[in-house]
Amino acid sequence: MERSSPVIGTFLTLWAVLVIRGQCHTPFFIFGDSVLDAGNNQYYPLSDQPKPRMPYGETYFHYPSGRSCDGRIIPDFLAQYANLTLIEPYLEPEFNNYTDGANFASAGAGIHLKLQLSYFEEMNNKLEPEAAQELLSKAVYFFSIGGNDYMNVGMPPLPENGTRVALASSYRKQYVKAVLGNITSVVKKVYEMGGRKFLFQTVGPLGCMPLSRWISGSECIANVTILAKMHNKRLSIVLWELEDTLPGFKCAVFDYYSALLEMSKYPSNFGFTEGQRACCGSGNFNGEFTCGDNETGYNLCSDPSQYVWFDAAHPTESANNYLSSLFWNGSLEVVWPRNAKALFEMP
Ligand SMILES: *[C@@H]1O[C@H](CO)[C@@H](O)[C@H](O)[C@H]1NC(C)=O
Ligand SMILES: *[C@@H]1O[C@H](CO)[C@@H](O)[C@H](O)[C@H]1NC(C)=O
Ligand SMILES: *[C@@H]1O[C@H](CO)[C@@H](O)[C@H](O)[C@H]1NC(C)=O
Ligand SMILES: *[C@@H]1O[C@H](CO)[C@@H](O)[C@H](O)[C@H]1NC(C)=O
Ligand SMILES: *[C@@H]1O[C@H](CO)[C@@H](O)[C@H](O)[C@H]1NC(C)=O
Ligand SMILES: *[C@@H]1O[C@H](CO)[C@@H](O)[C@H](O)[C@H]1NC(C)=O
Ligand SMILES: *[C@@H]1O[C@H](CO)[C@@H](O)[C@H](O)[C@H]1NC(C)=O
Repeated sequence: MERSSPVIGTFLTLWAVLVIRGQCHTPFFIFGDSVLDAGNNQYYPLSDQPKPRMPYGETYFHYPSGRSCDGRIIPDFLAQYANLTLIEPYLEPEFNNYTDGANFASAGAGIHLKLQLSYFEEMNNKLEPEAAQELLSKAVYFFSIGGNDYMNVGMPPLPENGTRVALASSYRKQYVKAVLGNITSVVKKVYEMGGRKFLFQTVGPLGCMPLSRWISGSECIANVTILAKMHNKRLSIVLWELEDTLPGFKCAVFDYYSALLEMSKYPSNFGFTEGQRACCGSGNFNGEFTCGDNETGYNLCSDPSQYVWFDAAHPTESANNYLSSLFWNGSLEVVWPRNAKALFEMP
């Protein structure tokens, strides 16, 4: 019998490797706030957020998907780079195929991390124990949270019956510790359930978002900036401690704060024309959250791809696209101690 030619053999081996790779998806689970919410919020009965409405989603989905953006958000781009489908919101009706992962993030005060964790546990319990262990242990987990907390306590107090309070400086450290403590307790729980690979991003330049400039009249809000910087600095420290103490724990932290602030300050270096004013909203800097509200009316730019900010607090799809490429394969200056690509490709 003749043996098959080495060329065909090599071809078959390569083909097999590609097929196996294709099937060998790394599931992707996402936890956080509106920056990462792909639409859970609309299904949550106690949500304080308005229902999804146009022009949110106008660029890519052509319907309001529930994302706080004109198009795709960072988890969408990362999923694409990792050869996954777009990760669906866990609360999406009839969604039950968790092979590629699930998104538990929720905009606004609707679902805090502890509640997101309880949904994650619910998912885990729906699966066969062995399948669940396989899925959870090879997955990548993405966390981004804290922005709402710091906005709530860092802004100037509302004159009347408002809920906003400016946090006294002596309590800042304690507050940041509490927020990070909440994050690490959820991360540790996911680790105990089998999770090993974690992505994080710092909180954004909260004090300089269109929302903050609208509130202040024009300038950045220093009290918010201080809290955001404290959080971001401590986040890395806390994560090194976890890499040191939890065997097998691996993470990547993306400096979302600096990357977005840089784009905001020098938009033309990144191919944008507008870095401070939101594309959609009203008031100074379009920093009032009215985007899509027909009752109040709102301004809408004609080309969101020219804007860094889509609404008062969320970047456009174009900005997210650039941020995601830094997160995925950027250098150690923006994402450390490894980038998302390296984390996804780890065994
Ligand atoms: C995605 O697929 C491409 C082409 O098949 C492959 O080169 C790449 O390594 C895959 N990426 C990941 C993270 O699996
Ligand atoms: C679940 O999703 C994966 C990845 O998208 C797909 O390959 C698989 O066929 C799906 N399974 C079912 C039962 O639909
Ligand atoms: C402020 O609170 C008081 C007492 O609770 C209430 O009577 C009043 O209507 C509130 N004012 C506004 C503007 O909400
Ligand atoms: C900043 O916060 C402090 C409390 O820590 C408050 O006294 C001060 O008024 C705030 N500054 C501004 C400009 O809101
Ligand atoms: C931390 O979590 C607890 C329990 O979920 C919550 O009550 C508290 O407000 C959180 N603290 C902060 C600062 O987010
Ligand atoms: C708001 O107005 C736009 C444009 O007129 C319209 O397409 C949309 O359906 C309206 N939305 C709601 C919720 O009424
Ligand atoms: C980083 O990833 C993006 C998106 O896949 C790609 O366009 C870019 O060429 C990559 N850059 C490097 C240096 O690999």
